[in-house]
Amino acid sequence: MILRDLPAVLGVEAIDVDLNQPLDDAAFALLRSAFERRSVLVVRDQRLTPDAHIDFSRRFGELEIHVQKQFLLPGHPELLVVSNEFVDGRPIGLVDAGHYWHSDLSYKAEPSLASALHAQVLPAEGGDTLFVDMHAAYDALDAETQARIDGLTAIHSYAARNAAQNAKTSHRPALTEEQKRAVPEVEHPMVRVHPATGRKALFVNEGFTTRVVGLPEDEGAALLQRLCAHMVEPRFIYRHRWQARDLVMWDNRATIHLATGCPPHLARTLYRTTIKGDRPTGPSAASLAA
Ligand code: SIN
Repeated sequence: MILRDLPAVLGVEAIDVDLNQPLDDAAFALLRSAFERRSVLVVRDQRLTPDAHIDFSRRFGELEIHVQKQFLLPGHPELLVVSNEFVDGRPIGLVDAGHYWHSDLSYKAEPSLASALHAQVLPAEGGDTLFVDMHAAYDALDAETQARIDGLTAIHSYAARNAAQNAKTSHRPALTEEQKRAVPEVEHPMVRVHPATGRKALFVNEGFTTRVVGLPEDEGAALLQRLCAHMVEPRFIYRHRWQARDLVMWDNRATIHLATGCPPHLARTLYRTTIKGDRPTGPSAASLAA
């Protein structure tokens, strides 16, 4: 296996590897450390079975079962189907997954560590995924803003995002009361210290962050708006152009991503595993622990 940094702000490609075969511990340690350093891992042309996709993902941690249970791959609940395809007039997956900037499951008390998407059916045009390097975005802020947000927390909500998407598309079902109870609002530091590298990253996103705690509403909204505009400047973005059977994994502690969409008549289907993470630690808690 060869690991080669992508010529972008983030990303590393693993070459000469077949993830159907389990990596030995030494090779896996190298892969994991490259992933933690570069935040996005690309492995081209992987003829992965659902089981091999799940087994590879499990090397990084326990897997999440997504709250939208109707879109899990039958027989493989660890795989969320992301798709714009319909069978008998019904969507086979989450049609609008990631059509807004977000970090997966930031709306949970213990947000996802990473997600791994495996391409099944790709459109001839469009369908790219964009990734932001949230370490670089934090590092590029002025010192005054960094000091201000280092001590702030913000609220993340899945129900608010689902309602916004539900208002836009008839294919996004409203949450049941049980689903709402499963995803209550949570509060996280606005800056997260990466548990593996110790680097700081912005940890707010347009998708799920609804307000800043302890600031008047308009001031908090202005701060969020400014940060969300800053983090998506082109200098912090890697654009992934999908190729057949790509496996792409991203670190949700250090990135946000956006599915750019494709013309609706062109099919696009991918399977996603989501790896459980830990409770985010902000800079002040990290320095107390040090
Ligand atoms: C997602 O946010 O998990 C989906 C990303 C994509 O479809 O490109």
